[in-house]
Amino acid sequence: MSIDLPSLRIVRYPDAVLRQPAREIAEITDEVRRVAERMIELMHDAPGIGLAAPQVGLSWRMFVLHVPEDPDEGRLIDCDPPEATESPRVYINPRLSDYARDLVPWDEGCLSLPGITGEVRRPSQLTVSALDEQGRPFSHRAGGLLARCIQHETDHLDGKLIIDRFTPIARMKNRVALRELTEGAAKA
Ligand code: NI
Repeated sequence: MSIDLPSLRIVRYPDAVLRQPAREIAEITDEVRRVAERMIELMHDAPGIGLAAPQVGLSWRMFVLHVPEDPDEGRLIDCDPPEATESPRVYINPRLSDYARDLVPWDEGCLSLPGITGEVRRPSQLTVSALDEQGRPFSHRAGGLLARCIQHETDHLDGKLIIDRFTPIARMKNRVALRELTEGAAKA
């Protein structure tokens, strides 16, 4: 396996890799770490707050995120559970559990679906367990935008996209934009 890092780019819907359930990463090698670093760059450049490996064409169970603190929005690192992160983080082979029982609506977008945003309902809190880029297991509780981002990125690892989770109104609102994205890809 050898990946040409500079050629990694964010793939767009309807690229087939976005629909494949991704494989667990068996061994966290230097190459995995380099891919994670490159994904963080691509995420920041986009700009975005999360990016999953299938979004750069790699069917691996890994995502990166960086949800900056925003006190104006009430989004804090130092709250329980945290809703933001101080720095970029890497999550490898993540598992989600202990979801809150509520479902909170929020407008979501996705770097692989440019021009498309719409309401998605998700539990407001959860626990994520994963390995970091050194292969060390970690686990934490998350709320707010951080919880949402973790669920969105984990969806990518299962081949799921926001358009699958849109409310009926969001689906209707994005019908034309989604068709244009599909037709644009067919022409390219
Ligand atoms: Ni996305």
